[in-house]
Amino acid sequence: MAHLGNSAASRDIAFVLHPYTNFRAHEEKGPLVITEGKGVHVYDEDGKAYIEGLAGLWCTSLGFGEERLVEAAAAEMRKLPFYHTFAHKSHDVGIELAERLIEMAPVPMSKAFFTNSGSEAIDSVVKMVWYYNNALDRPEKKKIISRIKAYHGVTVAAASLTGLPANHRSFDLPIANILHTDCPHYYRFGEDGESEEDFSTRLAASLEKLILDEGPETIAAFIAEPVMGAGGVIVPPKGYFEKVQAVLRKYDVLFIADEVICGFGRTGKMFGTETFGLKPDIMTMAKALSSAYLPIGAVLISDPIYQALADESNKIGTFAHGFTYSGHPVSCAVAIETLKIYEERDILGQVRRVSPALQDGLRALADHPLVGEVRGVGLIAAVELVRDKASKEPFDPGDGVGAFCGGRAQDHGLIVRPLGDSVAFSPPLIITEDEIGEMITRFALALDETEAMVTEKGLR
Ligand SMILES: Cc1ncc(COP(=O)(O)O)c(C=O)c1O
Repeated sequence: MAHLGNSAASRDIAFVLHPYTNFRAHEEKGPLVITEGKGVHVYDEDGKAYIEGLAGLWCTSLGFGEERLVEAAAAEMRKLPFYHTFAHKSHDVGIELAERLIEMAPVPMSKAFFTNSGSEAIDSVVKMVWYYNNALDRPEKKKIISRIKAYHGVTVAAASLTGLPANHRSFDLPIANILHTDCPHYYRFGEDGESEEDFSTRLAASLEKLILDEGPETIAAFIAEPVMGAGGVIVPPKGYFEKVQAVLRKYDVLFIADEVICGFGRTGKMFGTETFGLKPDIMTMAKALSSAYLPIGAVLISDPIYQALADESNKIGTFAHGFTYSGHPVSCAVAIETLKIYEERDILGQVRRVSPALQDGLRALADHPLVGEVRGVGLIAAVELVRDKASKEPFDPGDGVGAFCGGRAQDHGLIVRPLGDSVAFSPPLIITEDEIGEMITRFALALDETEAMVTEKGLR
């Protein structure tokens, strides 16, 4: 790359190993160095402003520079900068946060277990599900079913549940006892003449067949994001969860709702569980729990699960799982303040008010020659770019069309997330209609430039 001397970019290349990065490409390309944020904007080291169209990583729900969260952190840092929750120790903020989450849960839940991230929440759930079935003396009932294109994180069990090839390839994953069933993307996988409802029926039947083929006595749980996020923002087709949940009930299979992206208002209700009529036994959450100002995740479990874990811990002496920072007091204080702000500012009302500007605004681009599908709900959406609108034929992944579009958007001061050739939007929940309008204007420019590139290179 160009001679950058002692710049932040050259020091980054010299010293930082980045997540989700082609390291060799990074040596050439270098980083975009972000130095501050305010509201829905972030600023790079040259002072250029960007609308953060993905709220960082689907997480800074209250935008940047929310002073109340800064104050909450500083106050707790002074009062109790650290204490743990192992072996009968506790603290007031951990107790208050757990109580609030159990009260907020859309289905009856019994206990909250804290982690530092979504992935840790998922790995904790996998261990709880195994421990639970050992407690019930069902040592065979250990397999967990996830879905193709699911995203559940990157730790060993979470990455195994993730249904994206890049998270498995060269990492020797998935581990044993993890299965993947169909991806519920009607646009891509619905058959000719098949209604959305029929597609859902077919997928539920396929799930049932998988359970029967494996033996129901071996299937412990099914995990799903209410809206699949990193797999391409896939909104469940009509009737999908109703039909899937009927199958799960029939074979005594636990349902885990991964609310790491959908939780706390993203879909227009507090949880995706409510938006899509789910009845989970376990819920995982992170990201918007603290508006991402500090790392914290949580697992909520139902009472029957708690009772089994409690009996087993009593039988063998302990539930030997937990992180040094499970329920870190400063993270808990920030999460409590975040939840208070959601309530005081009626964040759900705000999402419902502005989300038509995002959903309708993006759908207005549906006639663009590159746009195959616009999908989404609330303040999460994606635009899928295709080579041929009529046949839905995708571009060759090697053409990097989605990445090009994301790069053009960035040049226009908009950060979005290309997921293959689907470009994802998930802005801070505080975004205004005007800011959404500006975001879509900038995206439309990027789309036109992408179309020009496709034509010029003869990619169609
Ligand atoms: C649905 C879902 N689950 C789990 C995770 C993993 O969370 P983390 O990156 O905090 O480990 C993510 C991250 O994007 C996610 O979207």
